[in-house]
Amino acid sequence: MFRIESKIDTTDSEFIRNKEEYGKILNTFRETLCNVKKGGPEQSVKRHKERGKLLARERIDMLIDRNTPFIELSSMAAFGMYNDEFPSAGIITGIGVIHGKETMIVANDATVKGGTYIKESIKKHVRAQEIAMENRLPCVYLVDSGGVFLPEQANVFPDKYDFGRFFFNQARLSAEGIPQIAVVMGSCTAGGAYVPAMSDETIIVRNQGTIFIGGPPLVKAATGEEVTAEELGGAEVHTSISGVADYLAENDVHAIQICRNIFESIERQEKQELNRRESIDPFYDPEELYGILPIDLKKPVDSHEIIARIVDGSLFHEFKERYAPTLVTGFARIMGYPVGILANNGVLFSETSLKGAHFIELCASRKIPILFLQNITGFIVGKQYERGGIARDGAKFVHAVANANVPKFTVIFGGSFGAGNYAMAGRAYEPRFLFMYPNAKISVMGGEQASGVLVTIKEDQMKAAGKVFPEEEKENLRKSILKKYEEEGSAYFSTARLWDDGIIDPVDTRKIIGLSIAISQNKEYKQTRFGIFRM
Ligand code: COA
Repeated sequence: MFRIESKIDTTDSEFIRNKEEYGKILNTFRETLCNVKKGGPEQSVKRHKERGKLLARERIDMLIDRNTPFIELSSMAAFGMYNDEFPSAGIITGIGVIHGKETMIVANDATVKGGTYIKESIKKHVRAQEIAMENRLPCVYLVDSGGVFLPEQANVFPDKYDFGRFFFNQARLSAEGIPQIAVVMGSCTAGGAYVPAMSDETIIVRNQGTIFIGGPPLVKAATGEEVTAEELGGAEVHTSISGVADYLAENDVHAIQICRNIFESIERQEKQELNRRESIDPFYDPEELYGILPIDLKKPVDSHEIIARIVDGSLFHEFKERYAPTLVTGFARIMGYPVGILANNGVLFSETSLKGAHFIELCASRKIPILFLQNITGFIVGKQYERGGIARDGAKFVHAVANANVPKFTVIFGGSFGAGNYAMAGRAYEPRFLFMYPNAKISVMGGEQASGVLVTIKEDQMKAAGKVFPEEEKENLRKSILKKYEEEGSAYFSTARLWDDGIIDPVDTRKIIGLSIAISQNKEYKQTRFGIFRM
């Protein structure tokens, strides 16, 4: 492979200015993340610790192998929502290594409204199980939750991917031979009782963990029976009388040790061979990304410059370099793993779509994972292009992405607008993971385009009615749409609603994508069968 020749001058004033601006974006990101990771209110954290319990992230730290990373997902779920009373949506999810096995860990944060579930907590829990299924990852549930956050019941209880889905997924995962382990470290009430009850093996902490279908107040109301939580569903009861749990732990640390012991007897089964080589750092410093990434999306960015700071040795075997240059395609390695890369370098034309579809065919046929680097305003518009069949060619690209059975990974480094989002493996196209950079933006179209469309529609309506659209009203409409798109298009808005798996620092891209590819090896890559490409 050849090394990408960067054209970036790091002493150039534009580079330096961009880097400074990016520094501010990163500071906001880091501060926000740090605040979110504090969990619930100070007094709740204090009370939690006084009860002799470890915090959710401390439990995870202790559970995973020493000096191994934990890829935390969607840390900023529910950010800016519910008066910010649900940091991380009250649940920590992510992948860590336990006795050498990559494992999906789902941990309730009891300092956040008793670890109860709002819509975003549900989405996070279900997404974690989906990732576990797609990548054959054992699951550990560190349970400490009051179940449904009752005022939000309509948003969390009844629908297909709501609370009940947890247990459906556990049954399906278990049936696939994917271990399901629960550690009951606090409350498991009502439906929540099924998390440990549906697990393959369950540990419960003495005088701390409780499992019951109905808690003491409900029992009293329903039957008049007066009973303490411990008598109703404590650790003694469940490990010696009911058999709902299998192991009795004296405290959090002991419970975590038992959980680790369980993993000693679970074998890691790598199902997909990948020809991995030794990882080499990029030739160009990844920190230079800060000076290159688009803060103003109108600024074009040569995506070779991004690739050069992500891939091993900045080495890239470019496919169709001279053809359809608004999409860069080629092979490289990340942390030693082979990968096919598609990176936007402008608007998508018919020939770009064909190039993209062709390249995806290559990766799927050779079973090489694909990384999509998104910075896309969409497909080209206009009479000439519609007549040339842009919709038909775009469809080929979308078809190839949808059917490619190799793992796909998506990183949005700039904008993600319109159908370009679909062709470049947006959320609906099931990339194994989708991450955003803190500067990234996502919406159906850019704010300016959307306000332009809406102003034109309104103007046409008024004209048809024989009226004139006053300039001032036009301006007000334009401004209000721009503001709405600005707000709703931000990476924070996206990540709060689980449209992605988290915002990442661009410098961490190599590490995160490398780990993601390693994770994907737990499941064999299936043969791809494409359908009908409209010719
Ligand atoms: N719905 C809404 N809010 C709930 C809740 C629920 N199911 N369970 C707890 N909360 C809230 C509390 O109102 C409190 O809010 P605040 O901090 O704004 O005052 C916060 O969560 C912490 O609850 P608290 O009872 O003070 O904490 P705790 O650690 O002593 O007990 C629980 C936590 C979960 C054991 C206990 O609150 C409980 O039993 N809740 C009810 C569980 C239940 O019946 N769930 C059925 C739903 S399916």
